[in-house]
Amino acid sequence: MRDSNPLASNARYDYERYAKHSFVDGGTTREHRRAILRILTHYIEGGMSFPDVRLGYGQEKITSILSKLDGYMSEFGVDETVEWALSTITSYLEFHAARDMPQPEIAARLEKAIAQAAYTPKAQAGGAEEVTKAQIEEAVDFDYRRFLLTRHSVRQYTDEPLDDATIRKIVANAQECSNVCNRQTIKVYAFNDYGTVQDLLTYQAGNAGFRPEIRTLFIITANMEHMNLIGERYQGWIDGGIFAQTLALSIHAEGLGGCFLNWSVEMEQDMALRARVGIPESELVITFISAGHLKDRFNVPVSARKPVEQVLSLNPPLV
Ligand SMILES: Cc1cc2nc3c(=O)[nH]c(=O)nc-3n(C[C@H](O)[C@H](O)[C@H](O)COP(=O)(O)O)c2cc1C
Repeated sequence: MRDSNPLASNARYDYERYAKHSFVDGGTTREHRRAILRILTHYIEGGMSFPDVRLGYGQEKITSILSKLDGYMSEFGVDETVEWALSTITSYLEFHAARDMPQPEIAARLEKAIAQAAYTPKAQAGGAEEVTKAQIEEAVDFDYRRFLLTRHSVRQYTDEPLDDATIRKIVANAQECSNVCNRQTIKVYAFNDYGTVQDLLTYQAGNAGFRPEIRTLFIITANMEHMNLIGERYQGWIDGGIFAQTLALSIHAEGLGGCFLNWSVEMEQDMALRARVGIPESELVITFISAGHLKDRFNVPVSARKPVEQVLSLNPPLV
């Protein structure tokens, strides 16, 4: 209920979502359990990429993964998280065997889990992979600053929406962004039907000057069911922002135009959008992004940047 202090009632609105849907008090839903498996698997995977690997690390965590997998697979079958966990433990065993530290107990338990899953894990689908400096240097051999400087918030588009394949490609590229513990908590609702896009845009105030131009719309959300610490209470916004910016750059990389459309709204507006789209209560709405094909010529704001000195504090003395 809204009270006499709207800031407090809006903060409570966010608090209640986090309290109800994160698993600060222990995980029960499939998404909670999926997130727990991913947090543990991420730990095991990460351990193989340190400069000095502590051989035999993480045994308790592996035991925990394998016992959680048992119940998870019985209830939900084999999904991408099960496959990643099994592949990572397979990779862990190969890593240790190659260093004369076989782990027979883990190997025996893994074998059982693999039999239950009826899935053949691939060591290269989890664990550590070697990359070379040369590969990276070759991949970044382009003018990144020019790429950034030619990205603008574009507020005029042709009348052709992005097709489904392009939308899929842009979202798949955005998925490559960094994210907390590889939990991949973001969801994207994408629309390219003009009537639906125009309807949804009425929920957002920042598109009034160019609404009729917009034929493709992304709505980005973050699932609070993947969060398990009090300290992670803002992680959804952080992961959501990182994903959204990567998506915006992915639009640009396709030679298309896009514009963030803020979801800086109060709870009534948020509830109205959720009801219209069917966004579950467990997801935070992060932002809208419009997208479209570029016209041959168009104007964008110059949007001059502040001097770097105003932004960067390089080696400030500690107090
Ligand atoms: C989170 C976020 C929300 C934004 N919301 C809107 C909006 O509602 N309407 C709009 O026209 N532009 C919006 N923008 C675009 C900004 O105005 C724009 O990024 C900024 O002025 C810098 O310009 P540039 O993107 O062309 O570099 C938003 C940008 C961000 C990052």
